[in-house]
Amino acid sequence: MPAQTVPFDLVDLAEVRRALQRRDDAADDHIDRTRILVIINGKGGVGKSSLASAIAVAIAKTRRRVLLVELDEQGNNAEDLGYTKDPALNDDGAAQKTAILDGKPLQPTGTARPNLHVVPGGALLEDIVEELYCQRRHARMRATQRGADLPTPDDNAWMGMYAAAIEPVRDDYDLIILDVAPGSEVLQLQALVAGDSALIPSRSDPSSRKGLRTVARRFAQARELNEFLRILGVVLFATNSSATKVQAKIVESLQKDLRGAAPVFEQSIRYVEAAAVKARDLGKVPQELRSSEEIDPALRKSMKLLAGDYQSLSIEVMQALAELHNEQEGEA
Ligand SMILES: Nc1ncnc2c1ncn2[C@@H]1O[C@H](COP(=O)(O)OP(=O)(O)OP(=O)(O)O)[C@@H](O)[C@H]1O
Ligand SMILES: [Mg+2]
Repeated sequence: MPAQTVPFDLVDLAEVRRALQRRDDAADDHIDRTRILVIINGKGGVGKSSLASAIAVAIAKTRRRVLLVELDEQGNNAEDLGYTKDPALNDDGAAQKTAILDGKPLQPTGTARPNLHVVPGGALLEDIVEELYCQRRHARMRATQRGADLPTPDDNAWMGMYAAAIEPVRDDYDLIILDVAPGSEVLQLQALVAGDSALIPSRSDPSSRKGLRTVARRFAQARELNEFLRILGVVLFATNSSATKVQAKIVESLQKDLRGAAPVFEQSIRYVEAAAVKARDLGKVPQELRSSEEIDPALRKSMKLLAGDYQSLSIEVMQALAELHNEQEGEA
């Protein structure tokens, strides 16, 4: 097979290459590169989906238009926002599959809350992941056939398939949140090439910190196609210590893992498992349950505290995005 031929069963990347080029060109025209927030960690169960839903609801409540996209087969956003049984909203990943495999703009299935549009994850993402692995293999083959050690950014245009699907809807939203599966390298690369900044939740245990180092490596790869990508910050998740000394020590080691490249958010999310489990069961985020009759009085206090954590964190996230925006305006 000649080096430049795309096998007939792979998605043609010509339009993806054009979309990435358009985005690079538009960078000179002050496009807002702070709208797409990736929530990512190479480790599972560190709070990515809980944060994605809670922050999305908090920011949509301030009348900003928010799009929440789940790049995960688990479909946890549908659970957290309570639309698992709504077939109109919960399409099992069909909208995402159409956008990525047919090269169309990403279309939400509907609104889970006022101002909060969703593109759900689900089992159909398996087909996307399969395509992405084939694309990656093809990119490596192209490089080998040229006698190169590594694929060039042009070979790696496949990493921009999500970016190409998201770019046409960027201006429709104030914030687009991507909640990314921990175990899929190819989806993580897609999100990091599509994103403007990344929020990294981490627990304080050693294996979560290992997940952080994995993300740091993927950052470097993604930056080859997305030089604007920034780390917004690390969020300490499900922490059971309010002791300032312990927190400071954890923050210090997190910063070491990321080689000082990321600030750690002041607001952490406390460990209150029963409240978190109840919220997901009820399909509501903690802020929506802070004084709800739906929950046992014994849980109300911890739900309120958890809701407060998410609320303060969401404000801090909005401030960090505004600062990033100002920095970029200053540089332009
Ligand atoms: N504040 C909390 N305290 C303790 N446990 C929590 C808290 N919030 C959520 N959890 C629990 O942590 C688990 C992981 O949460 P979540 O699904 O948000 O993480 P994730 O990083 O998205 O996971 P995955 O990698 O599987 O996508 C869930 O089972 C949830 O019940
Ligand atoms: Mg998740």
